Amino acid sequence: MNKITAAITAIGGYVPETILTNAELEKMVDTNDEWIKTRTGISERRILKEPGKATSDLAAPAIQEILAKKNLDPTEIDCIICATVTPDMVFPATANIVADKIGAVNAWGFDLNAACSGFLYALTTGASFIESGRYKKVIVVGADKMSAIVDYTDRNTCILFGDGAGAVLLEADTNGFGIQDSLLKSDGSGRDFLHMKAGGSLRPATVETVMAKEHYAFQEGKTVFKFAVKGMADVSAELLEKNNLTGNDIAWLVPHQANLRIIDATADRMGISKEKVMINIQRYGNTTAATIPLCLWEWESQLKKGDNLVFAAFGGGFTWGATLVKWAY
Ligand code: UT7
Repeated sequence: MNKITAAITAIGGYVPETILTNAELEKMVDTNDEWIKTRTGISERRILKEPGKATSDLAAPAIQEILAKKNLDPTEIDCIICATVTPDMVFPATANIVADKIGAVNAWGFDLNAACSGFLYALTTGASFIESGRYKKVIVVGADKMSAIVDYTDRNTCILFGDGAGAVLLEADTNGFGIQDSLLKSDGSGRDFLHMKAGGSLRPATVETVMAKEHYAFQEGKTVFKFAVKGMADVSAELLEKNNLTGNDIAWLVPHQANLRIIDATADRMGISKEKVMINIQRYGNTTAATIPLCLWEWESQLKKGDNLVFAAFGGGFTWGATLVKWAY
């Protein structure tokens, strides 16, 4: 029997309707459209505004789009892996809440926290469940309501992030399509530069932690930028080399959307021209675990069976990695 690979067989995505433009941010903090665009590439981002709505309300419609496209009953889903740093609650897992909201009553699932590399970590994990033959239908969803942890008085971070979710369905393939290889890396010493100070067991929530704004995302941008440029480009180049490929063999680079300058550096290093790079940072900003599947969602109609795709990410942890995919439909 041919080897089983895990193929992406459907994509769904969801972004909330409310748009937060650079012009609106100019009224909130000391910033300007020109600075944001030239330093990051971002023009606007989506925000989940409705009270009582959380990350699961972004993930659920993304998965429901897959169910509708594939005419799939939610009871057929075996497992849901939700990559997120903004879970609805510390526990239970958002994956469990999402399963309940979409009626996936036969699915087990869990959350995976690898920040901006979360989708790649989750995809690689989900793929191994398929490759082992143990499960038939695995949903991997990257979802983040970043607006829940962004300080809209801090110009260093509030211009960067947005809310959204993207999901893929993984199923077995015996013709060699799907996830081919993944290189995943981490370096926990990077925690000093990108983190949320309080709310975990190290600094449980107190009046003081709230007053000190320690429940918001903190980033030392310049340092993270330096590591991100090197990390994302190096791992992508290493993945190509390991698989005896060059940039010419790649139909699409699907990079994490944190900063247009990081994306450009990665593409240059891989020898991939700009028209083969998926970029939607200008409209959605950095949606953390959702950036890569949201790109796939928007470019789905341009993908062809057999296309080689490289997904690449860098984020908090530090975590980073690259995944090679042979498109299956
Ligand atoms: O997705 C997870 C991983 N995260 C990333 O990959 C993000 C990596 N970092 C970055 O993308 C960039 O570092 C930022 C976009 C966050 C910042 O860009 P930068 O070119 O590194 O700017 P900087 O932090 O070095 O700041 C340059 C100047 C500073 O002013 P001075 O000290 O030179 O007077 C900042 O205070 O720009 C100032 N500045 C701003 N000015 C206008 C910082 N934020 C703003 C702002 N508007 N929003």
